[in-house]
Order: sequence, then C-alpha cells, then structure tokens
Amino acid sequence: MSNTLVIKGFGGERKLSGTVKVTGAKNAALKAIAATVLFRDTVTLTNIPEISDVLRMFDLLKDMSASVVNTKKGTYTVTIPTRGFATELTPGIAKRMRASVVLTGPVLARYGKVSFPHPGGCVIGARPLDLFVDGFEKMGAKVVMSDTGYVVEAKGGLKGAEFFLKNQSVTVTETFMMAAVLAKGTTTIKNAAMEPEIVDLAQFLNKCGAKISGAGSPTITIKGGKLLTGKGHPYKTMPDRIEAGSFLVLGALAARELHITNCNPVHLESPIETLRSAGVPIEVKKSEIIVRASSHLKAVDIKTHEYPGFPTDLQAPMTVFLTQAEGESKVFETIFEGRLNYTESLAAMGASITMMDPHRVLVRGKSELRGRKLTSPDLRAGLAFVIAAVVAKGESVIHNVDTTIDRGYEDIENRLRAIGVDIERAETVPEVTPSIA
Ligand code: EPU
Repeated sequence: MSNTLVIKGFGGERKLSGTVKVTGAKNAALKAIAATVLFRDTVTLTNIPEISDVLRMFDLLKDMSASVVNTKKGTYTVTIPTRGFATELTPGIAKRMRASVVLTGPVLARYGKVSFPHPGGCVIGARPLDLFVDGFEKMGAKVVMSDTGYVVEAKGGLKGAEFFLKNQSVTVTETFMMAAVLAKGTTTIKNAAMEPEIVDLAQFLNKCGAKISGAGSPTITIKGGKLLTGKGHPYKTMPDRIEAGSFLVLGALAARELHITNCNPVHLESPIETLRSAGVPIEVKKSEIIVRASSHLKAVDIKTHEYPGFPTDLQAPMTVFLTQAEGESKVFETIFEGRLNYTESLAAMGASITMMDPHRVLVRGKSELRGRKLTSPDLRAGLAFVIAAVVAKGESVIHNVDTTIDRGYEDIENRLRAIGVDIERAETVPEVTPSIA
C-alpha cells in the first residue's frame, strides 16, 4: 500500500453527508492485548481496529511465543504458552511504538523479569519513563538501565505498594493496574489518570477475576490474586473517542449533516461543549452524534487537560477548526511540549497562526486554506491535515501515511470517501534504482 494520500479540497464548501461508523479505540485495544499476559487460558478480543499499532503489539506477543489467531475481521484469540514465554520486548518493534511499554507490567508481574529498549525519539515531546522505573522499584523490583535499555527483575514476585503519580499518566496507570493484579497484597495508585480506556480495561479484568476498584477516579486500589481466566468473557473494545471527535470536527467544517455512529458521546463531553460554544449545531443520542452545518463559527479558546478535560489527542483537529472560526482563539497544549509543531504546516496552507511558546499558539480566523504537500509529525496531526486538506482549495498530498495515520485510523480513505471526501491513496510508484554516475 502506498504511503501517500491525495485529497481534493472543497474550498470551504459543505459537501459531506451520510454516516461514518467509529471503530474500536486504539488506546483501549493496545492495553487489552497487553493484558492477555495475565491470563492462564485463551482470551478472545473483539472489535479490535485493523491498524498498524495493533498489528505491532500482536507481533511483540508473537515474538515472545504467544499464539495469536485472527478468527475474523476484528476478532483475535490470544493464548500465552505455559512454558517458554520470552521476557524481552523485541527492540526493533518496541522502539517504534511507545505504547509497547504497557506490556512490561503484565510480563514482570507474571514472570518476575522483563527487558525492553529505550523508547525511540518521540515527536510530540520528551515522554520520560521515570514513573515506570519508580513504580517497578516501589513494587520490589530491581531496575538496571544500560545503553541499550532496561532490565527489570523481581525475583520473589511483585509486592503490592502505594504510590502517588506526580503526573496523571495514562500508560503508567494502566501498567501498574495490570502489574498489581498478580502482585502479593494490595496496591493503591493515587493521582491515577481517569481516561475511559482505563475504566474499560479495569472492567474487562474484573470480569475475568481481577479485584480492581476506583478506576475512573483518582485513586485505584487493586487486590493482587491469581492468573485470570478468559473463558466466557470475550473483550469488546470500547469506541474510539478520538476518532469520533475528529469526525465531529470534519463534519462541523465540511458537512451538511454527518451522522457519527457506534460511539459513546459521554466520552466526548468536553469537545462537544467546546464546539457548541463555537456555534456548531450538535445533536447527541445514546451512541450517535449528529453534526450539522452552522452559518457562523466563532473563535473559542482551548486548553488540553487530562480526562474529562479537552483531550490532547484532539488538539490538532480542533486547531484546524479554529482556523475557520471568526476571531482570535488561544490553544494551550498542557500535556506535551512538542505537540504544536504541525501548526507550521497549517500556516503554510494559509492559516494565521502565531506560536507564542512551545505550549501555546494564537489562531486568527477565518483564513482561506490552500492545498499543499504535507508531511505529518504524528498520527493525530496526520488526521488534522486530512481535515485541513478537505477544507482547503485545491489538491493536498499527505506523505508518511504509514508511520502516522495508518497507525491509528482503519481504512481511512475508503471510510472518508463513503461520506463524500475526494480522497485517494496514490498509486505506489515503483522504486527506480538510482544510476551511479
Ligand atoms: N510522564 C512522566 N513520566 C513518565 C510517563 C509520563 O512524566 O514516566 C508524563 C508525560 O511526559 C506527560 C504526562 O506524563 O507530560 C502525561 O502523559 P501520559 O503518560 O499520560 O501519556 P501516555 O500514557 O504515554 C497516552 C496515550 C496518548 C495520549 C496521552 C494523553 C496511549 C498508548 N497513548 O500516552 O495517545 O496522548 O495518553 O492522553 O494510551 C495517541 O494515541 O496518538 C497518543 C499519543
């Protein structure tokens, strides 16, 4: 498959309509896949999105000798062998996917050892591992760091512990919630992250025998116990709130009426309220959001925040929205310091954006965007570029799709084409062997 998307923009006209169905959430599916290491028998995972991050997570498990079977679209069974499971996360894969770090909790808890590489450089910010190292040590493990990565060992198994997270980190909360399921005694995580994906994971683990309480609040308590059982408890991935929110922005800018189905609007209260205050007519049903055209979009300030605040993963699509709203909006990215760099490309498309500092930009709307060649720094900015390209006048070409958009959005071009977006994956250009002069 080629790495390039070609989009012909509508120059601000509202031409989209129809229904777009939301897939299972990437950031829930990845954790459920990691959690299979806590099971003594086969686990069935359903509504798993067909995206490259998910395939990589399965590859990591397969490399460790798990059996992974894709029984039908979106459904997988995973079995961890009773013997011979490797405790090293394959560096070539783990380095390319920061989310792989959540596997360390279950592997360490079950096998008393795990090794993993330094996570690769990340374009959205520094993303340190200090809270992971602190947590492992508090639970009685020894952590050795070398040039190549980390080796963590807990010879007699992990012990329950109490810790306070200095930052409300999503993957740290999930990693230690999973590790604590097999630790001796009780673990308390204070200042835990409260994202819906954490609640989804806790509910699944509890159905299978874990004793986790408080997920979704800032204090989570886990009573350690035995290996879990998947028998009779298939996991169904919750809907992707970031995908739903991105479609909402796309609809607000380019649709006459767009129905976003198979989603959970309760998870999107902050983006929905923000868009409504900017003048977007939004109707909310139980598992559907309907967005309609507005005659006037107004500027609104946004500040990213841990859940239930405005999600950092929707900051880039929302900034595209603000380029089309009348007036001056401030965008304050509080979670990651490198997550506004993509705004340079929006400015090159004609947006009026001033970077105040690495965490803040000022957007002056409304600007007419023009199609451009774009290279996205990360998957969320990648989808924001798709939205900008639909709004722009002329053709845009988005490169690097395999390392950005394809990591998190299933079959994006066909799903968007079905609601009227003029989008094609460019033909793969055969590589020409350069001649040596
Ligand atoms: N942090 C530390 N020390 C650590 C770990 C994190 O200081 O050891 C800090 C980070 O530097 C950051 C803050 O904690 O300032 C919060 O980051 P968090 O750890 O919550 O981010 P994450 O768990 O690595 C997850 C999602 C991200 C999403 C963030 C915030 C997954 C796999 N990733 O990342 O999703 O942006 O939470 O909601 O769940 C994406 O899907 O594109 C994506 C980047």
